[in-house]
Amino acid sequence: MTGASLAFADPAYAKLASHIPPAEWVLMHEDITAIRVLKRDRDAIILAHNYQTPEIYHGVADIVGDSLALAREAMRAKAAVIVLAGVHFMAETAKLLNPDKTVLIPDSRAGCSLAESITAADVRALRARHPGLPVIAYVNTSAAVKAEVDYCCTSANARKVVEFAANQAGTDAVIMLPDRFLAANTARETQIRIIAWDGACEVHERFTQADIAQVRAQYADVVVLAHPECPEEVVAASDFAGSTAAMADYVARHQPKRVALITECSMSDNIASANPGTEFVKPCNLCPHMKRISLHKIRTALGTMSEAVTIDPDLAVRARRSVERMLAIP
Ligand code: 13P
Ligand code: SF4
Repeated sequence: MTGASLAFADPAYAKLASHIPPAEWVLMHEDITAIRVLKRDRDAIILAHNYQTPEIYHGVADIVGDSLALAREAMRAKAAVIVLAGVHFMAETAKLLNPDKTVLIPDSRAGCSLAESITAADVRALRARHPGLPVIAYVNTSAAVKAEVDYCCTSANARKVVEFAANQAGTDAVIMLPDRFLAANTARETQIRIIAWDGACEVHERFTQADIAQVRAQYADVVVLAHPECPEEVVAASDFAGSTAAMADYVARHQPKRVALITECSMSDNIASANPGTEFVKPCNLCPHMKRISLHKIRTALGTMSEAVTIDPDLAVRARRSVERMLAIP
């Protein structure tokens, strides 16, 4: 078989054909084939976030999911090498949970506006201003910030962690950082007062109530699902809010005729093939950090075994504690 016929015979192509032109797929397939061989040779697995491009999601990823699933799977991983196809804080979290494994990030510049909005010194100052209150850090933070807090949380378990932390500390308030929108959206679901930081996701903060009104005016039957990093009024105007995995789950369970995922654009492309009866409509926004990761960079990372994530061992012990506390909440 020629390279082209091998590419079109690959079962992954059936899931990608509607997103990738044939000529591009043949070129991508070269990288995909090389990555699959390298994974075997290096005893590596690829964990990919739901916002990765469809050729990564369907072509080379061993496990896909939201931040919580990736953290859990990183902890269970048996392979010697983990490639984190996602942003830097996700790779750091995988390393925190696997200090003896090699964790590779294909582009270490893949940051996150939330993670960059707060430092360890900011957390210490916040704690000093509100003594006695438990501090919860969204997983979208650096290891240095996680080392200063009591619990980590993700968008999938924010409410549960807030309630658990307040209950354990015997307080009616908690500090939750750095996303002011996730904090506000979580506060609406609990009786607990949340003291927030002023960070925001540069992708989700751009959605407005007018976007939702426009999509509803265009498609009367559309179901609107929003990520809780969106502003409160956007979440309030939506039919459901949840983590990227919760949104994928909602579509799989309810099979709406039309859906708008108010989140990063690749989300819709990635779950479209599993939901052929659903039409995915805009708006969506791209995350420039997630989009730094490409097939070619994954191939290079596995070929050169770089860049490996490193974390100062003392800091890692403290940061791991907050992630493990989250994972231990029943
Ligand atoms: P999830 O944990 O919902 O996948 O969200 C991660 C993220 O960065 C969303 O912007
Ligand atoms: Fe960070 Fe937002 Fe990108 Fe998620 S979508 S990685 S929160 S900048």
